[in-house]
Parts: sequence; C-alpha cells; structure tokens
Amino acid sequence: MCGIVGYVGPRQASEILINGLSRLEYRGYDSAGLATLGPSGLEVRKFAGRVSVLRDSVTDSAVAGTCGVAHTRWATHGPPNQTNAHPHTDCSGGVAVVHNGIIENADMLRRLLSSERHCFRSDTDTEVLAHLVERSSATSLEGRVIDALSDVEGTLGVAVVDSTDPDKIVVARRGSPVLLGIGDDEYFVASDVGALLGHTRSVVYLSDGDIAVLTRSGYRIMDRWEQEQVRPVDTIEWDLETMALGGHAHFMHKEIHEQQHSVANALRGRLLPDEGRARLNGLNLDAEDVAGIKRVVLLGCGTSFHAGLVGRHLIEHLAGIPVDVDIASEFRTRRRLPMSGALTVAISQSGETADTLEGLKAARSAGAHVVGLVNVVGSTIARETDGGIYLHAGPEIGVASTKAFTSQVVALTLLALHLGRHTGLSVEDGRAVAKSLAALPELIEECMTVERQVRRVAEDCASAQTALFLGRGISVPVALEGALKLKEVSYIHAEGYPAAEMKHGPIALIEKGTPVIVLAPKDDVFTKTVSNMQEVKARGGRLIVVTTDGHDELDELADELIRVPASSPLLSPVLTVIPLQLLAYHTALLRGCDVDRPRNLAKSVTVE
Ligand code: F6R
Repeated sequence: MCGIVGYVGPRQASEILINGLSRLEYRGYDSAGLATLGPSGLEVRKFAGRVSVLRDSVTDSAVAGTCGVAHTRWATHGPPNQTNAHPHTDCSGGVAVVHNGIIENADMLRRLLSSERHCFRSDTDTEVLAHLVERSSATSLEGRVIDALSDVEGTLGVAVVDSTDPDKIVVARRGSPVLLGIGDDEYFVASDVGALLGHTRSVVYLSDGDIAVLTRSGYRIMDRWEQEQVRPVDTIEWDLETMALGGHAHFMHKEIHEQQHSVANALRGRLLPDEGRARLNGLNLDAEDVAGIKRVVLLGCGTSFHAGLVGRHLIEHLAGIPVDVDIASEFRTRRRLPMSGALTVAISQSGETADTLEGLKAARSAGAHVVGLVNVVGSTIARETDGGIYLHAGPEIGVASTKAFTSQVVALTLLALHLGRHTGLSVEDGRAVAKSLAALPELIEECMTVERQVRRVAEDCASAQTALFLGRGISVPVALEGALKLKEVSYIHAEGYPAAEMKHGPIALIEKGTPVIVLAPKDDVFTKTVSNMQEVKARGGRLIVVTTDGHDELDELADELIRVPASSPLLSPVLTVIPLQLLAYHTALLRGCDVDRPRNLAKSVTVE
C-alpha cells in the first residue's frame, strides 16, 4: 500500500527519493509524488501512474534541494489522480505532507477548516493535515505537527516539510510504520526498510506516538509533550541483491524458486534432530507457560490464514492441543469471550496487515498470550507481540505470497513440535518430525522439475472461465491457496473446496473441460479423494491431479498427473503447493497479466 520516503543531508534529495519509491513499488500504488526544499522554496511534483512518470519529470533545476519527502499512494479517499496524489500542501504552498493510513475524522476537520477559509484542492483525508499544520501558532515545525496531530483521529505515518523551517523533516507514527535510516551526516525516513537498502543498514523503528525531527546534523525522537524518547538502533539484515530479480523474469518466479533456501533458513539453528525437538527461544514460552496452554488460536489473512489452516492439523496432531483458526478481520469483530489459557499466533508475512494487528490486540485484551509468526523483522506485528518466530524468508516482493506460505508452514511445524514435546510427543516421534523437516529443502528442489509439465497444463487453463481446487484433510488449505493464487494473478475465477463438500454445491460448476485440480498426496484420505475424482470425471471435468511419487493407480483416471516427491503426509502442503504456485504464474503469463503487480492488490494491506 502507500509508501513514504524522506531524505535530509548533503546530497540532492530527488534522486534518492525516487530510487526509494521505486523499491516500494511492489507494495502496490496508483500515483506517486515528491516535495523538495531548495533555494527557491518548496517544489512539489506528483502524477497518477508509475514512479517512472515522476522520475521523468524531475530533471529540471526547480526540484534541486537536499531535503525532501516522497510518497506512493494507494487510493482510499478519492480517485487515483494527480490532484489526490501526495504530497499535499497548505494554502500557502509552503508545507508539504505525505501520509500513510486513514484520518477517520477528516470530514469533520475539513468542514471546520473550510469554515476558517482554508482552501482544499483534493478529495483526500491527508490534506487536512497540511492545513492543520498551517493553522497552528507553534513556533517550530515539530510543535505545529504535534498541534495538528492532537486534532486527528485514525492511523498515520507522516512526514512533513516546511519552507519556513527548512532542512528539517518532522515524522510521526501512530499505527502506521515509519522508520528512520541513519547515514553519515545524512538521515532518511521510510515506511519500509526496502527504501533504505544501499544507503544504510542502521535503522530506528519508531514506536506509536513517537515524533521524530531529522536535520542534517542529527535526529531526535520525542513524545507529544516534547519529552525525549530513546529508541534502539537496529541493523537491517536484507541487502540490495535480495531485492533484485537475479535473472528471473518476475519476482513471483524468483520467489517460487527460492523456496528450498527460504525453508532452510526457517529451519536453521532451530532443529535439534537427536533430541527430536525444536529450539524456539524467541517464543519466550517456558515449560510452565506451555503447560498452561489450553488452546491455540491462529489468526491471519489470505495466504497466511491458509498457512494457519495447515497449522491446525500440525498442532492438533503433534501436540494434542485444540486449535481454532480465524480470519483476523472476522475474529476481531465477533463477541469477545475470555481467552485466558489461549496461545494466539498472529501469522503475517509483512507484519503490517491491519486486520491481523487488530486481531492480536483483541486477543490480548481478552487475556490471550500473543506471539507472532512474521517475516519482516521489526514490523509492527513483530513489535506488538510477546515473542515469536521470524520466518527469515528474505523480502517477498511479488504481490502474490509464495515463499512466505511454505516458510509459515515450516515455522508452524516447528511450533507444533515444540509444543508437542511438552505435551507428550515421544522423543522418537519428535525425531521423525525433525528428520522430515530437515529433508524438505532437497525435496523442494526436486519439486521444481515439474515446471515444464505445469507450463503445459497452464496452456489448457489459460482459456478457462473457472477452475476448482479440491483436497481433503491437510490438503484443503492447499486447495484454498491454489485457488487464491490462480484468481489473484490470472483473474480466472477459482474456488478451493474440501473435496467431499463439492457434491453439496460447487459440483454444479463442472462442465466438459472445466479444470479441476485435485490434491491427492498419499495419506489416510487418499482413497476417499480418489472417489471424489471419479465424481469429477463422470461430469466431464478435466482432472489435474497433484500426487506423490510412486503411485500408479491414478494413471488411468487423471487427465494430467503431476507428481511431487513423497514426504511425511503432515508436510505434504509444502510440496503440493509448489505446482499450484507455478500453475498460477504460468497461466497469468499466458493471459498477459502483470504477475508481480496484479490489479487492485497491494502487498502490505495496512487498512482494515
Ligand atoms: C495472497 C496474499 C495475501 C496475503 C494477505 C496477508 O497471495 O499475498 O492474501 O497473504 O494480505 O498478508 P500478510 O501475510 O502480510 O499479513
């Protein structure tokens, strides 16, 4: 979603700002803009469309300046056009504001400010901030920003510059991430570490309520009473290379192929194969805490929710603890019942998903112990939880989540093993799980050999109106994930369903040639799944079956048989999902879709 970049230092700001925005493009946006402070005052440039349009417009000397802020916007209030793009300015044109989040009382403030003769130009909620800063009588920019924010309700990450207080950026955080980059005599602002790569590895994550003031000579952080706050300086783990295509045509393709490494990273240092257990120190749960867990609640959205559905099977099977899995937005709006004794796990690649964040807060206020399963280090969910497991999958740039899913399933298996060894799972059974986990990276590599076959299958799927994905047991979430991947990147209508449930409705969708993709790894529901395949076949559906090596009974039945290496049935989702990711990718390519940036979607969904 929206992205913020800011710079103050000795170098020309516009180039740094635009390069930073380019690295945030993956988050999804519809317009881009910047404001620089130079010898001739404040200069604003903004456009609907890609960052490249903005880049082409900043070649003249009017945008010269060594301090500035920039933004990519994902429209919420008002259509995605030039006027609504950020930065927004006050009546004098001297104050420029970029903002992520939503100002909930914007309509009321707009009426009030209009009645005081402030002149609005855009439809956005953000513009009220620029006029509120203008209206304040405080003497410094930080004082005026603090005044402005005291009138505002909602979530925000903001960066503000003012031509009357030059060479200064004031930044504030309330619910929407902002971090500072610390360079040599230069300072950066960003909503995402990606924008800072190549400039500095030293960052300061602002906490909610923080206001930061950046100048060429340093930075300071304070609260709204201007009391100094001390925040640690952290080091970014990612580097520029991890954000490059590395020879692949698209990030989605790169990230599918990275999975043997991302899964190995999720396991690194955490498996104790001889002892048959997992070491998860970051969870901050000792034996006594685990003994007090009466149930586990897994929260997430989209792909992360699907990983949670796999997690239910894993935790119930290995640890014998009952598990609820909820879509975070639904969880938080239901009646809140007491949750003492519930371990709540917030699952999120980005760590910024607003629904998941609100879900974890709701769980905590109901008495749950809350941990995170997050990829992005230092993200809001990682910081809001009492402990957690980082995925260490590296940046996921493609909007469709791929490598995060397999890492989430692996991290949930580690969690299940950890809990299980405290709740009665034997050393021997623990060793078997550890062995299966350790074998995964190699099996994932083998799995990639299906790509040529999947590309052929994609040729049939590309002209389909609809596709069904079916599975049973632990394969149901994989079916849901396969359908989500196909619909979001290829725009083909797709449904994921439990195979047995198909006959209660969706079977009506099947006609001659409808692609029906069935997940059928060899497990204890295999035979029943084969019966469901017969039902599909009898209705003329085109049967594409993903199964495990070494079973010939499907040769006759399936129109297309995609074999993945055999693994422990509990871990089959990590392997069976790979052909589905590749199918979505190749189908989308054949249909000419923008696979890395599907329409209407954003990588990090920071609005509820
Ligand atoms: C689908 C996809 C989304 C995300 C969802 C949650 O490919 O990417 O469904 O999984 O928006 O995002 P995170 O995991 O960042 O909380």
